[in-house]
Amino acid sequence: MSVDLRGKTCVVTGAARSIGLGVAEMYCSLGAKVAMIDINPEVKEQSERLAKAKSAEYRGAGPAVRGYILDITDQKAVFSCFDDITKNLGDVFALANVAGAVDQQAFEEITPERLDKMNRININGSVYCAQAALKTMRKLKDGRIINFASKSGKTGSSIMAAYSGAKGAIISITHAMAFEFAKDNIKVNCLCPGIVEKTGVWGSVSKGYVENLKMGEDEVVKQFTSKVPLGRLCRIDDVVSFVKFLTIDGDYCTGQAFNVTGGREMH
Ligand SMILES: NC(=O)c1ccc[n+]([C@@H]2O[C@H](COP(=O)([O-])OP(=O)(O)OC[C@H]3O[C@@H](n4cnc5c(N)ncnc54)[C@H](O)[C@@H]3O)[C@@H](O)[C@H]2O)c1
Repeated sequence: MSVDLRGKTCVVTGAARSIGLGVAEMYCSLGAKVAMIDINPEVKEQSERLAKAKSAEYRGAGPAVRGYILDITDQKAVFSCFDDITKNLGDVFALANVAGAVDQQAFEEITPERLDKMNRININGSVYCAQAALKTMRKLKDGRIINFASKSGKTGSSIMAAYSGAKGAIISITHAMAFEFAKDNIKVNCLCPGIVEKTGVWGSVSKGYVENLKMGEDEVVKQFTSKVPLGRLCRIDDVVSFVKFLTIDGDYCTGQAFNVTGGREMH
């Protein structure tokens, strides 16, 4: 039976835009209490917009959407943010660890700073948020964590070794967490999307390919689309509906790294 999210607290990182914002909107539409986290201050406007919409929809129930401006690479700040979430919205049932960042450079030009940045945002940030969420999930003996890896975390991408490595680590961390927290009935999975159109990551990657591969933007899109068996790039909704499934229906799934790639990645 599907989990009824009404009254349950769901946290989404990277919620100011793109996939994270789509996940926050989906959780709101299911009646959850939603905490939206992002380093980008626009998360406040987005959360206020959703709170208003929700308030109108659930007349009298009061808005239960809060925006938090937070750098997830700061463990202390993450813990104090989750304390505030628990105090104001209740124990955390679901965490969608969407925040991430991409970088491109020739392998031999990777600097310590850029390698470190990829790891801090994509690995450390997700780990700190999961640690904070687990405090209350373990108390509830129930919970869902959805980490964000990438197709590049399974089959690494050219000129993206640092990003690919960080996303590969997220897959292994997901396995380890699934083993460790199964006894607490907490399911931990991750998603490995392919290219998701109209997102920050693809915006930055496609720009990089235009510059590095000396191709026009249309040509880049055409080339990458042609590699996808289903013949189109991924849409934000394709990813959001998978997060929805793992949150409310994926009761017997843990430790999995699901491809959302239109068949581009099959293992
Ligand atoms: N878009 C794609 O094609 C694609 C493909 C595979 C995997 N992914 C993964 O999906 C996730 C979302 O991708 P997207 O394209 O929606 O990203 P995006 O760049 O559009 O949005 C990411 C959000 O994370 C926030 N963020 C970055 N660093 C942060 C920090 N230190 N603290 C708090 N927030 C921070 C950003 O401000 C931004 O709002 C990422 O983890 C990404 O690696 C994306």
